[in-house]
Amino acid sequence: MIKIAILGYGTVGSGIYEVLETNKESITKKAGHGISVKYILDLKDFPGTPIEKLVTKNYNEILEDPEVQVVAEVMGGVEPAYTFVKGALEKGKSVVTSNKELVAKHGAELLETARANKVNFLFEASVGGGIPIIRPLNQSLTADEIYEITGILNGTTNFILTKMFNEGREFEEVLKEAQELGYAERNPAADVEGHDACRKIAILSSLAFGMNVSYEDIHTEGITRVSTRDMEYAKHLGCEIKLLATSRKQDHKVYAMVAPMMIGKENPLSNVHDVFNAIFVKGNVIGDVMFYGRGAGKLPTASAVVADIVDVVKHMGTSIISHWSTEKMELMDTEKIPA
Ligand code: HSE
Repeated sequence: MIKIAILGYGTVGSGIYEVLETNKESITKKAGHGISVKYILDLKDFPGTPIEKLVTKNYNEILEDPEVQVVAEVMGGVEPAYTFVKGALEKGKSVVTSNKELVAKHGAELLETARANKVNFLFEASVGGGIPIIRPLNQSLTADEIYEITGILNGTTNFILTKMFNEGREFEEVLKEAQELGYAERNPAADVEGHDACRKIAILSSLAFGMNVSYEDIHTEGITRVSTRDMEYAKHLGCEIKLLATSRKQDHKVYAMVAPMMIGKENPLSNVHDVFNAIFVKGNVIGDVMFYGRGAGKLPTASAVVADIVDVVKHMGTSIISHWSTEKMELMDTEKIPA
């Protein structure tokens, strides 16, 4: 039996517990071991619930327990997540996370720490919620030189833009609905100002191009200034407005940006609605590949985290390779993006 700890029992944390319980039998078969939650780190107590006895407020209890072999970090934010994750890796525990802030800022370094300690650091759920995209970039598409990634990487803004477009509703009203449905970040500015999509395209670019693309260097615009009038105008032209994140490598240079863009109906991304995300990857051998699915929400995100847990359990003692070095990649001015 493999013992794990879940750091954070919010939307995703409770989803992980639920997925592990619901699919216990099949997960045990696929992982080759039973997986049992020994600790849940949270500031709240959960009296009268099945997890009551698992809850701790003391991270050191988890860190110092040699029985815990895998830590699932789903707290969000850079600190204390970074300190906890680094500490766990240094103690020889594998870590899986959905935390895009953490991965975008410290991904390359944490991968090195994992390698040095002969454990794994996986982050499938950090981009695209339940859509498998990290693993394909790391494993299935390695024969290719990836030269472009373009996608809808934020479910909240896609939900808002879809409702504004289809129902003629105002931005603020739909944002409130997205928050109530649990899609938006605790601070919705991260979604609507484009920072969440920016971190995600930085992670994908780093993996695809094998160097460290800093999210701070990516030109980013959000959707706060998109009006219902813009939507009418787009409709009139037979287009939709989508928040696109794009990154292209050309002549050893990388151009990346996040911005609302008008796209025609012939573009498959125009048919990606509500909380769905889609990612187009272009490779020099394979051509175009598109990934599509639920980009936010409790169970889709938990599905990706649990898949990572299964993967680290299956690969105990071996390194799952990630093509993301600490070498910094220079980004070009987006005003000079070639046509
Ligand atoms: N707030 C994020 C989104 C959650 O809406 O896409 C998933 O990363």
